[in-house]
Amino acid sequence: MRLTSALPLAGIVSLVAPSFAASEFLGCNTLNSKLSGSVFFPDASVYKNESVNFWSNTEILSPACVFRPASVAQLAEGVALLKKENARFAVRGGGHMGIKGSNNIDDGVLIVMSNLDTLKLSEDQSILSVGPAYRWLDVYQYLEPYGLAVAGGRLGPVGVPGLLLAGGINFYGNQVGFGCDTVVNYEVVLADGSVVQVNKDSYPDLFWALKGGSSNFGLVTRFDLQTIRSAKVWAGSYTVAEEYVDQFLKAIATYAADISDSKTHIVPALVPAPETATLASAILFYDSDETEFPEIFKPFTDIPSVSSTLAFKTLTEFASELGEMVVDGINDVFVTGTVTGTTFDDLHRGISIINSTFFERLPQLYAQVPANNIAIIQLDWQPIGKLWMDASAKAGGNALGLDSSKVYLAYAEVVEWTDSQYDDTVMQWVEETTYAINNATQNAGLYDPFNYIGDSAGFQSIFPGYGAENHQRLMEVAQKYDPHATFQTLMPGGFKVC
Ligand SMILES: Cc1cc2nc3c(=O)[nH]c(=O)nc-3n(C[C@H](O)[C@H](O)[C@H](O)COP(=O)(O)OP(=O)(O)OC[C@H]3O[C@@H](n4cnc5c(N)ncnc54)[C@H](O)[C@@H]3O)c2cc1C
Ligand SMILES: *[C@@H]1O[C@H](CO)[C@@H](O)[C@H](O)[C@H]1NC(C)=O
Ligand SMILES: *[C@@H]1O[C@H](CO)[C@@H](O)[C@H](O)[C@H]1NC(C)=O
Ligand SMILES: *[C@@H]1O[C@H](CO)[C@@H](O)[C@H](O)[C@H]1NC(C)=O
Repeated sequence: MRLTSALPLAGIVSLVAPSFAASEFLGCNTLNSKLSGSVFFPDASVYKNESVNFWSNTEILSPACVFRPASVAQLAEGVALLKKENARFAVRGGGHMGIKGSNNIDDGVLIVMSNLDTLKLSEDQSILSVGPAYRWLDVYQYLEPYGLAVAGGRLGPVGVPGLLLAGGINFYGNQVGFGCDTVVNYEVVLADGSVVQVNKDSYPDLFWALKGGSSNFGLVTRFDLQTIRSAKVWAGSYTVAEEYVDQFLKAIATYAADISDSKTHIVPALVPAPETATLASAILFYDSDETEFPEIFKPFTDIPSVSSTLAFKTLTEFASELGEMVVDGINDVFVTGTVTGTTFDDLHRGISIINSTFFERLPQLYAQVPANNIAIIQLDWQPIGKLWMDASAKAGGNALGLDSSKVYLAYAEVVEWTDSQYDDTVMQWVEETTYAINNATQNAGLYDPFNYIGDSAGFQSIFPGYGAENHQRLMEVAQKYDPHATFQTLMPGGFKVC
């Protein structure tokens, strides 16, 4: 299927090219002549498979060919050739950035990482080397027999590379910071086709930039991650009825205002539906194989539940349980925004404004998209506080620019629908709703320009929210390692530092 609607995307380049340009054929043909066996045209079954291997149907486009390098050396050679030919390309890891044109390209070369599949534990088991081919469930399954985990995605199907390049909000964040904070070395193909090892001692500026700077500097072919000892966790989804929504929203603020237990992580969400009551459901996670119902979760677990999956389980089991929420083959959008505060009152006010603005606008969505077309609507909040940011700082810091004197509540709106004829309607609704929320939180003095890449929509801007200084530094690093701006121009998809 090819979707051709051009959405009003600012901050990300929309890629609906009118026709084939000669350079793209040249890109595919040149790649094919030098690296045959790794280049696939539309008739090939590999093309048919890889070109639809995306989370959301809205991401599916029509690349001229798929380049699936068999090795890092092939990828490096391919990047150098594409640059020489001036041919446009896109890169897809796990394909979960649900933004049209962010990881795919009409009429250009789609590079897929499916065969860059290093997966290896160091002899002392402290470091896991993982290639961009993987989804997090693969990684957790590999580590399970060792009683180990890493700071990765919470839902099993999500891809490894995009998440780590975005930052990586993870279950262990209050112990280790963002997923990117646990990366001790990146193997990267630079724009000139060289392959470099990037860590705190070699290319330290690039090492910092890769921690939240996304795809602006090079193509990562291996991440070396610190492992975490975590054989079993106490975790599940705890769901309460609509009459307890206000109490649930208070519980979020209570938790966020005082995140005092580093073993905890929560993802509280409201789940409205056009024809049934709203539910409130929190993912509760406790990194322990012996403690259940920790004190800090009491504001949630004191509310009577309609269902609960809380139990001791392995990380693999939990990421797989949560992964069942992912519906393949439909249309999805995430949008995000952030409020900050330091007290219960501020955080609760921020949550209430987001809640009220979102729910006031829902009837407008229901009026335009039939109920039987709406698969999922969700509004969630992700708290990031001092324990988390201190762990990031201890690990050497990242590009995200968060201030540890404040608590960040990053909200995300999720809308999923079945029929692509509603793509534009939904996109317009989420864009207007997000502006309405952000205007309201701004008026209340609670707004923060931080937009988490992983949950952002195409119309949102990212790097200004990292602070002017970090944004400037990211542009300088991009310029230094990619002076021709290959990863901004020939690879137009994704969020760009400049
Ligand atoms: C269902 C779902 C659950 C999620 N859960 C979480 C979560 O728990 N925590 C969290 O932090 N985020 C989460 N996210 C957001 C997630 O981090 C992003 O969607 C992320 O982009 C996924 O990585 P990917 O490899 O699948 O992405 P892709 O779409 O493949 O890539 C994302 C971007 O990175 C670029 N890219 C991909 N691979 C490389 C590479 N090797 N080198 C350079 N650039 C590359 C792509 O060109 C694209 O611009 C979730 C998303 C979804 C849809
Ligand atoms: C593509 O092929 C892989 C491996 O053979 C398979 O697991 C996957 O389901 C296929 N995907 C599609 C969309 O056909
Ligand atoms: C959240 O929104 C719902 C629906 O509009 C409303 O009934 C409820 O009172 C709101 N709660 C808070 C705390 O804002
Ligand atoms: C406020 O709304 C306007 C559009 O209505 C939008 O352009 C602006 O970006 C919004 N402010 C924020 C902080 O999102």
